[in-house]
Amino acid sequence: MTDDNNERIIAPEEAGDDKSLDLTLRPKRISEFIGQNNIKKNLKIFLEAAQKRKEPIEHVLLYGPPGLGKTTLAHVIANELGANIRVTSGPAIEKSGDLAAILTNLNAGDILFIDEIHRLNRTIEEVLYPAMEDYALDIIIGKGPSARTLRLDLPHFTIIGATTKISLLSSPLRDRFGMTYHLDFYEPEDIKKIIDRSAAILKIRLPDGPSQEIAKRSRRTPRVANRLLKRVRDYCQVEGDGGINAGHCLEAFKLLEVDELGLDWVDRKILEVIIDKFGGGPVGLSAIAASTAEDIATVEEVYEPYLMQLGFLDRTPRGRMATATAYKHLGRKKLGQSKMV
Ligand SMILES: Nc1ncnc2c1ncn2[C@@H]1O[C@H](COP(=O)(O)OP(=O)(O)O)[C@@H](O)[C@H]1O
Ligand SMILES: [Mg+2]
Repeated sequence: MTDDNNERIIAPEEAGDDKSLDLTLRPKRISEFIGQNNIKKNLKIFLEAAQKRKEPIEHVLLYGPPGLGKTTLAHVIANELGANIRVTSGPAIEKSGDLAAILTNLNAGDILFIDEIHRLNRTIEEVLYPAMEDYALDIIIGKGPSARTLRLDLPHFTIIGATTKISLLSSPLRDRFGMTYHLDFYEPEDIKKIIDRSAAILKIRLPDGPSQEIAKRSRRTPRVANRLLKRVRDYCQVEGDGGINAGHCLEAFKLLEVDELGLDWVDRKILEVIIDKFGGGPVGLSAIAASTAEDIATVEEVYEPYLMQLGFLDRTPRGRMATATAYKHLGRKKLGQSKMV
C-alpha cells in the first residue's frame, strides 16, 4: 500500500494531528530541550549577555531540516526572556502592508517569529531590511510623482527566522541576523531521551527495548520520534493489553512499512530509481523527482538530507549518486566495478 505524502508516517514536516502532539510535547525551557548541546551552550551565553545589558536580543536565524526543533527553540528563547512572541510565516505575509501591520503592533522586547522565512517575497524583504537594522518602517504615501516616503519609528523588537533552506535567503537578509544556529540531526541517544521524555508526559509505559527500536527508526528527528511513539502505542493498545512490548513494536513497524533505519517506501523508491533506472547515477534532481512523483523541493529538503546523513546518497556536481552502502541496504549488487568504495 502506498499512501500520499501527507500520510507518511516518517515525514518530518508537521501534518494532521501533529499540532496538538507538538504542543503537548514541546519543551518550554532550555533545560528541557534535549540534545543540540552546542547550540544550547551558545544560546545561554547569548541570552544572558543580552539580559545583563537589559537590551532586546539581536535577530536570530534558525535553520535545518524539518522536525528538528526550530519552532520549539523560538518559543524556548521567548520563554527564557519572558518575552511575547508573535508567530507568522513567509507565505502568510502577502503584501508589504501585512508586514507593516504586524511590525507596528509590536512592543519593545517582543519577538516576531517568521517561519519559512525563505518564502518571503522580495518586496517584503525590502521592507524588512530597515525594520531589522534601524527599527524603522518606510511607508510610501501617494502614487506617481507626488509619492513620498514617510519613516515611522518602530520599537526594538527581535526577529527569529526559521528556514529549511538557508541558500534561498538573500544575502542582505542573512546579514541582518546577529546570530545563526544550525540544527543538525540528533544523536541517537538524544532521540531515545526525547522518546522516553514524551512517553512519561503521555503516561505510556515504555520499556528500554522498544524505546530503542523506536529511536532507531526515528530518522534522528524529534518530530518523527514522537509520531512513531504514538503509532506504536496505538498499535499496542489495539493488539495487546496497552503496554508496549518488543514483539508488538516490531509488528507495528512492519505494518507501517518503516524499516530498521527509518526508511519508508518513498526513500526506497528514490534509491531504487537511482540504482535501477540510472545505473547508480549521477542523476539530476528533477529526474528523481519525476520518477518518484514528488516535487523537487520536497526531495531536496525532506528526503535527501536524511539519505545523505545515512551515507546512502552523494551530491556531486553532475547529479546524485547512490553509494555502495545504499546498494547493500537494498540488497543490490553494484555491477561493472571491481572495487567498491
Ligand atoms: N530538543 C528537543 N527536545 C525534545 N523535544 C523536541 C526537541 N526538538 C523538537 N522536539 C519535539 O519535536 C517536535 C517538532 O519540533 P519543531 O520545533 O516543531 O520542529 P521544526 O520547527 O524544526 O520543524 C516538537 O513539538 C517537540 O515535541
Ligand atoms: Mg516549525
